[in-house]
Amino acid sequence: MKDKRLKFGIIGLGLMGREFASSVARWCHLLDSPLTPEITAICDVNSALFPWYTDHFPSIKQQTKDYRELLRNPEVEAIFCAVPHNLHEEIYCACINSGRHLMGEKPFGIDKKANENILKMVGAHPECFVRCTSQFPFFPAVQRICGMIEAGSFGQIIEVNCGFKHSSDLDPNKPINWKRMIEINGEYGCMGDLGLHVCHVPFRAGWKINNVRAILSNIMKERPDAQKNRVPCKTWDNATLFCEASEAHRTDCFPLTIKTQRIAPGEKNTWYLEISGTKACAGFSTKNPKSLRILEYQGGEQVWQHIDMGHETAFKTITGGIFEFGFSDAILQMWAAFMYEYYHKQPLKKFAQCATPQEAALSHTLFTAALMSQIEQQTIPLE
Ligand SMILES: NC(=O)c1ccc[n+]([C@@H]2O[C@H](COP(=O)([O-])OP(=O)(O)OC[C@H]3O[C@@H](n4cnc5c(N)ncnc54)[C@H](O)[C@@H]3O)[C@@H](O)[C@H]2O)c1
Repeated sequence: MKDKRLKFGIIGLGLMGREFASSVARWCHLLDSPLTPEITAICDVNSALFPWYTDHFPSIKQQTKDYRELLRNPEVEAIFCAVPHNLHEEIYCACINSGRHLMGEKPFGIDKKANENILKMVGAHPECFVRCTSQFPFFPAVQRICGMIEAGSFGQIIEVNCGFKHSSDLDPNKPINWKRMIEINGEYGCMGDLGLHVCHVPFRAGWKINNVRAILSNIMKERPDAQKNRVPCKTWDNATLFCEASEAHRTDCFPLTIKTQRIAPGEKNTWYLEISGTKACAGFSTKNPKSLRILEYQGGEQVWQHIDMGHETAFKTITGGIFEFGFSDAILQMWAAFMYEYYHKQPLKKFAQCATPQEAALSHTLFTAALMSQIEQQTIPLE
């Protein structure tokens, strides 16, 4: 089984390109994987990034600054593309049009129009397996919560709060980078950066968002550039989306609050999910990554349990069941999900799957409505 390989090209060798490569390097960590990724070709406009890859991956036979050249390489079967948002539409479409399988980074297009064009290309190439990154559902505690959603253990949903918070932008002297520039990161600002991570579980649960009232804040209106001049910083730093949602089989609605914040003092990559239901409640935050909070109610006392989660992963690994799980483990699990689904033509289970292009499209509908809500200062219905 293990000698079956899928040959990858990576386009965009920055932060996330390296995370993927590191997962490939420790693929032996996974037990029972039907297919092994192999990095065959790499591409970035910045050739200074090549040596880290070529030093660690002797399988690389092509290094190029032009993604078109990589796409002309007949050995490349699949692509991981991790480039700035303004390039998603052009490069994702070119990858799919060349017949390559694709894992694209979120937000899967800088805006709704770009996303629609990517989705059209996906539709025109059913032979290509296309998924979008989303690693947080793979934390063991989140897998447990998702199992509860699937089993209907929450009863009627009362309320859901979920979010993703960063804090390094609290420093007004942090230099501006592409993630703070509207023309490269997009009008969505923090929603484009962080939003799909937060929406993935609610979307997969089948909770329909009926409308949204958004409050968006641009807190730091300028930042230093590379020359230390203060320049405008126009992206939204923080977004709170108050949504009315409904479960597929009920007419009752419940409040679903989505927070994506780049200026949340004290928070470093804190992803959280809290669900209250009539029969159970659950809460998880990456702040305490092995702690799962559950309250189960069948009458009588309402007692919160705090459970220490070990390494209870969707895709089995060599790590002992009591050991801790972290960010790079979630990335490895996400890639295991990509490879599993590609190989078996179906996911291992409902919540052990990367985000689909359709889920990415739903997030664009939501974030576009949120932008409209901010402009009109009103609740906006979703199509
Ligand atoms: N899943 C996650 O947790 C997560 C975390 C951070 C970023 N991201 C996403 O990953 C993507 C990339 O973000 P990053 O943090 O890796 O950014 P990065 O800036 O670290 O890396 C992007 C790379 O793309 C390269 N690039 C730019 N133009 C190019 C072109 N025309 N051809 C080839 N390469 C080009 C840049 O030189 C850079 O090395 C974005 O979509 C971002 O939203 C996801």
